Amino acid sequence: MSDTLSWATNVDTKAQVEHDRLTLLQEVFDPFSARLLDRVGVAAEWQCLEVGAGAGSVARMLADRAGAANVTATDMSIDFLEPLEATGIRVLHHDVTVDEPPGEFDLIHSRFVLEHVTGRDEALRRMASWLRPGGWLVVESATPTPELSSEPAVGRALSALARLMARLVGTDPVWARRLPVALEEAGLTDCDAEGHVVPARGGSPMARWLVATHRVIEEPALASGAVTADELAAAYAAYANPSFVDHTWLTIGALGRRPT
Ligand SMILES: C[S@@+](CC[C@H](N)C(=O)[O-])C[C@H]1O[C@@H](n2cnc3c(N)ncnc32)[C@H](O)[C@@H]1O
Repeated sequence: MSDTLSWATNVDTKAQVEHDRLTLLQEVFDPFSARLLDRVGVAAEWQCLEVGAGAGSVARMLADRAGAANVTATDMSIDFLEPLEATGIRVLHHDVTVDEPPGEFDLIHSRFVLEHVTGRDEALRRMASWLRPGGWLVVESATPTPELSSEPAVGRALSALARLMARLVGTDPVWARRLPVALEEAGLTDCDAEGHVVPARGGSPMARWLVATHRVIEEPALASGAVTADELAAAYAAYANPSFVDHTWLTIGALGRRPT
């Protein structure tokens, strides 16, 4: 795959509109992440790493559980993470695929990062190697299911989104479906996975986040012919209509621990 494929070359990671999109993402998906962290039982004094921390909400959750001084938040783009430093969280500009290990951890969490990273299985193995014996890796990854849409235009728009993200960013829209096998292959034990679908009810934060995500690649999607302007307009209208509901975005949360 081309070296030019990456998140940062295709998404304006400093823009207010991207911050707003990540804030919506957090509002929608934080409750599931919190349940996964509770399932693992993150405790005071655990050394925690949040990989690809985005706008930082999961790093804050980890700080609430483990203490801010025990949390490291990494990303390729750390502008949105700067406010975390004032809380005592360590913020690091770091590429999960190539940079030196940022430490040794009792818990490493990452959400909606590995599907966008080329060499994702190697990145997963790297993260597994940064765990202390008995430490937990928790990975959340998304896989859209356009074929389940109740509205053809929404299905077409979602398919176009998946294809364009694959072409422009290198995103693998089905990688999550093999979880937790990838964690087992990285040498972890006690592996498990669970799926979670947030209904995209018209006007809800989930529907608004989907529209914001479509807008990231709207221009190239239209230019490629993967979706028409009419289909996209119909999809946006559905996402604004409170009587519309769709269940087309599956998140898989997987966990496993390093053998003691
Ligand atoms: C969809 S956003 C998810 C943000 C955050 N994890 C969340 O769920 O709220 C993907 C994030 O992964 C980061 N990212 C992409 N490639 C990365 C890499 N190779 N190493 C570290 N972070 C990366 C992006 O900068 C972006 O913040």
